[in-house]
Amino acid sequence: MSAEPILSTLLPDTATLKVDDVSVGGVSLRDLAATYGTPLFVYDEATLRSRCREAASVFDDGVAFASKSFLCGAMARLAFEEGLCIDVATGGELDIVLRSGVPANRVILHGNNKSHDELERAITAGVHRVVVDNFDEIERLRALVGPNQTLDCLVRVTPGVEAHTHEFVRTGQEDTKFGFSVSSGDARRAITSLREVPGVTLHGVHAHIGSQIFDADGYEETMRILADFTRDDDFDELCVGGGLGVAYVAGETALPIAAWAHALRTAARDAGLDAKVRLLAEPGRAIVAQAALTLYLVGAVKPVAQRTYMAVDGGMSDNPRPVLYGSGYEAFDVTRPLAERPQRVRLVGKHCESGDVLIDEAWLPSETGVDSVIATPVTGAYGYSMASNYNRAPRPAVVFVADGKAREVLRRETFDDLARLET
Ligand SMILES: Cc1ncc(COP(=O)(O)O)c(C=O)c1O
Repeated sequence: MSAEPILSTLLPDTATLKVDDVSVGGVSLRDLAATYGTPLFVYDEATLRSRCREAASVFDDGVAFASKSFLCGAMARLAFEEGLCIDVATGGELDIVLRSGVPANRVILHGNNKSHDELERAITAGVHRVVVDNFDEIERLRALVGPNQTLDCLVRVTPGVEAHTHEFVRTGQEDTKFGFSVSSGDARRAITSLREVPGVTLHGVHAHIGSQIFDADGYEETMRILADFTRDDDFDELCVGGGLGVAYVAGETALPIAAWAHALRTAARDAGLDAKVRLLAEPGRAIVAQAALTLYLVGAVKPVAQRTYMAVDGGMSDNPRPVLYGSGYEAFDVTRPLAERPQRVRLVGKHCESGDVLIDEAWLPSETGVDSVIATPVTGAYGYSMASNYNRAPRPAVVFVADGKAREVLRRETFDDLARLET
């Protein structure tokens, strides 16, 4: 469909296109591919910082970065430096964030099945909030919070809102493993019982209705339901979770973080939410997706009667989203970014699956072929964090670029890394 060159709006903020190269953060993508190899995740620090700052400035203190979207020590520190808390959903995420030096009192623990050990570590470390998800967890907390300990909590509720997004990333509806239902009365029972746990302070409710959501309607409805539900609770926080969508391909438009916050604040005011209640959120994708792109080397081009397959040196192991959700991406040739893209190919990876498709219908310049370095933009969210070692593929390296310099924040896995668990 597209003979046009790649849209610069899909690229990181600092991307500069020349006839034969693209630079991000003042660093040439050609040079990055040559220095660090491919596949390679390249994150623009300026984009990351600007999105974090935007979130910190339009929400109240306690707004968090959802680290499941992309986590390493450098990312946790960056989000913390820019004023955000870090939301973690497992002991592994909690561990990386604490190791990174982010203080525990800026960490929020989520999870629909938090283990005894995860809760114990969170309590001992002194996390900012635990978002309580189910009645078993309440009982675990009753047993765990010691006589001299305190724990600050939110309670996760399901408002019964069906967000307009893929069913696998929809979480606000009644039929879900997450949180307590408002309409069934479970949420009210959870609030009552949490308030009786010695040492626990309940600050408010949390809801997350889904991911990759483009319009504000679902959030506004959530706000109305939650404001109504908590009217007599005297809470001081309300968190609407994450889920703000981003544009992955030409033709998609997403709400900026500031516009999302504005819509939420308006809905909160209209719903009569007490002005003292801190309005919080935990965006992941909206912070990191557009900040990164993935570089690949083309290794094989195979025309068949129906189409041409172009194979790169990564695939579903570094970006499972197309396979999981049918997500769309675009591609461009790093050495021909301004060229028209009349060549239609199916961009595939190197895994032993016919379904290992990165882009069903990718458009590239006619000269792009074997040995070309190509990039898929908007791969900063749920790419590296969902990466696997399928087919024993070593995970790619991750570099942050800023002010003309690149720093490797996660090195490429080696075969020795892959062999380290063998006994
Ligand atoms: C509880 C919670 N908060 C925040 C997020 C982040 O969502 P997104 O990356 O779509 O902003 C998720 C994603 O699954 C989530 O489950």
